[in-house]
Amino acid sequence: MPLTLYSTSLASAACLLLTAATLVVWQKSCKCEPTWIKELHALGRPRKHKFPGTAVICGGSIAGIVTARICADHFQRVVVVDPEIEDPEKPKTRIMQYNASHAFLTLFVNGARRLWPTFDAEVKAAGGRIVPADVQIHYAGALLPTPFGDYAPGQFPDTLVIRRAVGQTVLHRLLLKHPTAANITPLTGTVRGVNLTSDRASIESAVVRLSDGKQISVNDVAMIADCTGGAQSGLKWLNAAGFPLPDNLRCHYNGNLCYLTLCFDVPPDLASELPIPEALKKTAFVYASGSPIDDLSWLIALAITDNNTMQFLIGNTAYEDLPRTSRQVTPFLKASKLPIPSWVLDVLDILCERTEPSFDTIRLPAQSYVRYDTAPAKALPCNFIAVGDANMNLNPVYGQGFAKCIMNGIALNSLLHAIDTKSIPSAVPGDFSARYFKKSASAVQGLWDSTRFHDYGSPSCEPMEGTGTFVRWFEHKLVTAVMEDKEVASTFWHVRHLLAAERAFLAPTVLWKILRTPSRF
Ligand SMILES: Cc1cc2nc3c(=O)[nH]c(=O)nc-3n(C[C@H](O)[C@H](O)[C@H](O)COP(=O)(O)OP(=O)(O)OC[C@H]3O[C@@H](n4cnc5c(N)ncnc54)[C@H](O)[C@@H]3O)c2cc1C
Ligand SMILES: *[C@@H]1O[C@H](CO)[C@@H](O)[C@H](O)[C@H]1NC(C)=O
Ligand SMILES: *[C@@H]1O[C@H](CO)[C@@H](O)[C@H](O)[C@H]1NC(C)=O
Ligand SMILES: *[C@@H]1O[C@H](CO)[C@@H](O)[C@H](O)[C@H]1NC(C)=O
Repeated sequence: MPLTLYSTSLASAACLLLTAATLVVWQKSCKCEPTWIKELHALGRPRKHKFPGTAVICGGSIAGIVTARICADHFQRVVVVDPEIEDPEKPKTRIMQYNASHAFLTLFVNGARRLWPTFDAEVKAAGGRIVPADVQIHYAGALLPTPFGDYAPGQFPDTLVIRRAVGQTVLHRLLLKHPTAANITPLTGTVRGVNLTSDRASIESAVVRLSDGKQISVNDVAMIADCTGGAQSGLKWLNAAGFPLPDNLRCHYNGNLCYLTLCFDVPPDLASELPIPEALKKTAFVYASGSPIDDLSWLIALAITDNNTMQFLIGNTAYEDLPRTSRQVTPFLKASKLPIPSWVLDVLDILCERTEPSFDTIRLPAQSYVRYDTAPAKALPCNFIAVGDANMNLNPVYGQGFAKCIMNGIALNSLLHAIDTKSIPSAVPGDFSARYFKKSASAVQGLWDSTRFHDYGSPSCEPMEGTGTFVRWFEHKLVTAVMEDKEVASTFWHVRHLLAAERAFLAPTVLWKILRTPSRF
């Protein structure tokens, strides 16, 4: 062989090898576990030497409960301030979505089990169901399969099925029952503002209005967490304390979304008459249907919830058109373009005729994200964080709210554990807030972008920046490929339950299949 030819083939062989190696590395890096999953195991692990001072948790709902539990592993004292924190058994009145149908992702269940080893037992005692996370979601009439084949029989990851109000009661009880509760003080009141240290580097105290109108100061603040949900009050407190935060820190768009939840009381004898296929009585949803099509922004879901109740959810953009009475429910669905199986309509007909469901109709405020992660250096007090909806308030269509609290909590827990404990630090470091928001954002940013770009496809949506055209083009091909290919279906399921990062769609073996699938939508 002439030398030149020999070296050319050697070079192309090397090239091929290099390409193959690149592909392998690319594949591996896309499929590797996201940071929050790698760090999940440390959730619920207490540190030896606790930070002196008080962690003040402002808000005692999901984010507040998760944050208080984590902080009790790290701080000598935890105070949870909420006007309704006193009695776990009392229904909450200040949470708009308290009666709305909720689905829970596997990441939430996995996180809650780490924080509370008795989570499953408490949930079951309250009547909730822990079942494999098979949500029976259909798009355009076709089922998006659940990847049971990836796991040994009986090992498939779980989800929780429970009315939100009952689930929240369980979490509240768990917080107060856990051994760390000895360091947690619930304080019935409303946080009104914060006061800074003299060098203005951190928050020194929180101003709380008690239920009798008296104002007190919670001093000795080691860390303060805004867990006020959609109120996102931290922004107001920081502004009032003279922190000049950029005007555009809070970004938002308005999907003009509404959610209707019907809740039915279904005694066992009535339940046995419902024409629900036997296998579907054990899945997370009995039936669910979503739509990736731009002018048909719909979600419906039927679930067998706790204590002989069932819930039916309609998510839509036409608030005025939603059914207001039992009689309007199935006619409304029949008039829609959704390919709903007739047995689902039969079940709803029976439930609407034989019971008196409650109607919970919610018009959602705009979706918003406070970009604390983009604040300039030193723009935030070093011991301020925001968790849950106080940081990012999503369209709930993918059921990510509770799991998002866990993602924030994992970031917080890992950062706290990374601080050296031997030389007991007197306070969290000067860049703590900035590091928390950066780390948290790297986990949750994808949820914000993919949800809003999806929502931009609806004619009712008032978008912020970007168009999302490319993302929706990809989403349509992706959902089609999920119906046709096992590997894509498995990736999709893992990403949806937040067990994998979205970059998993870019793994060459997956991406190739998605790109070559012509969209059905
Ligand atoms: C219609 C709808 C359906 C949803 N469906 C799902 C779903 O299926 N799955 C899912 O995971 N998520 C879902 N979500 C989202 C989920 O409900 C939220 O993400 C979750 O409630 C966020 O918890 P949070 O603790 O951050 O805020 P919230 O639950 O809103 O609680 C805020 C708390 O802060 C307290 N508070 C407010 N201001 C102050 C103050 N100044 N001082 C002290 N306390 C204060 C309030 O009293 C309240 O207790 C849905 C949301 C909506 C609107
Ligand atoms: C939830 O439903 C109960 C019972 O129907 C009702 O009394 C309560 O006001 C509702 N709460 C919210 C926040 O909508
Ligand atoms: C649900 O049922 C359990 C018993 O199975 C009971 O202890 C609990 O109080 C019930 N909860 C509600 C909200 O009805
Ligand atoms: C502390 O903060 C509260 C609420 O923002 C404010 O009213 C009060 O004047 C502040 N106190 C001091 C000493 O700055």
